[in-house]
Amino acid sequence: MPSIFDEIIDRRNSGSAKWNYYDADVLPAWVADTDFRSPEPILKALHKAADHAVFGYHLDSKVLRETLVKRLADRYHWQVKTTDFMFTPNLVSVLNFVSKAFTAPGDEVLMTTPVYPPFISAPANSDRVATMVDMRVVQNGQEIRYEVDFDAFEAAITPRTKVFILCNPHNPVGRMWSQAELERLAAICLRHNILICADEIHCDLIMDGGQHIPMASLSPEIADRTITIMSPSKTFNVPALGLAFSVIQNEALRATLEKSMMGFMPHVGTFGYAGAEAAYAECQPWLDELLPYLRGNRDFLVAYVQEHFPQVRYTKPEATYLGWLDWNAMNLPAESPYKFFLEKARVALGDGIGFGEAGKGFTRVNYGTTRETLTEILERMRAAVESI
Ligand SMILES: Cc1ncc(COP(=O)(O)O)c(C=O)c1O
Repeated sequence: MPSIFDEIIDRRNSGSAKWNYYDADVLPAWVADTDFRSPEPILKALHKAADHAVFGYHLDSKVLRETLVKRLADRYHWQVKTTDFMFTPNLVSVLNFVSKAFTAPGDEVLMTTPVYPPFISAPANSDRVATMVDMRVVQNGQEIRYEVDFDAFEAAITPRTKVFILCNPHNPVGRMWSQAELERLAAICLRHNILICADEIHCDLIMDGGQHIPMASLSPEIADRTITIMSPSKTFNVPALGLAFSVIQNEALRATLEKSMMGFMPHVGTFGYAGAEAAYAECQPWLDELLPYLRGNRDFLVAYVQEHFPQVRYTKPEATYLGWLDWNAMNLPAESPYKFFLEKARVALGDGIGFGEAGKGFTRVNYGTTRETLTEILERMRAAVESI
């Protein structure tokens, strides 16, 4: 039976960065947005907001605060108050403000690599230092799985290490961190008085039905030292609407962060609130349909790599819609696999080196698209490899 997610929507000339950044003959599998039509309740809410026809400044949403309190309690047994939230137009700006507000120039911000490129650039944007701790790769045949190297993580800490940015689930390696792993990371951070900034934007995109564990839900002590950031933008594919939310249970931390943003961080607009309210109140059935479709794409990608690229190592993402492929054994005839596939396959992938040195020779592939488009992306890549 066809899925609603099989619908091909022409996104060229739509203002879509994903589809219009490269030449028109290039198929995009780079930036993390999906090619799916937004859920009906979101469209309805946006139409209603547009039909109101007056676009003055928008008040912070009490409805959204209450919806989120219930959501976090229902999903994670995480009890937060309506006053614990902070709304911003995006998430990456918050990473940057956190990197700056709780450190001094020259201080160090810790992260496990390979990781989403804005983690790496955030400290440098404010003359702070990104301390990158490479994860350990565990291999089973072609499949690889990343694990935190706890000894290396603790050894990398210096008196100047002030913040750890956690990616949970982790982009690009697709790990959902277990309770034991999170507790161990938190214990190290608490021991060294390091603030945890948990980017949990991919928390709803769980492939095999497991349970996401928010770092701050583990204990009051951890919550007291954690700033969590989430967003409807990946889950419901609405990054253009402009709303992310932070959960900060420690009032003093929240006040410091809010102060650092004053006059710099824009307010969220009408469409951000309208979209997020509808997403979290009414779009669970849509998400329940999306996840098996994405899982099907992930399994298709894995099976394709096994069959056609036997020298390539791959992750089997537990979460996110982002695959991670290691081309190092193939010695592709180009400066990088990213360049090879852009030039020879006309496919734009994520360039592994942008995720840290540990990503050299890798590409990230966004499988949040129709099965048909994913198939064409992979067929083009296969033809390029076979043409060598
Ligand atoms: C881990 C992670 N954080 C943040 C973002 C982007 O968030 P925003 O667009 O709200 O800044 C992404 C997008 O790919 C991501 O993967």
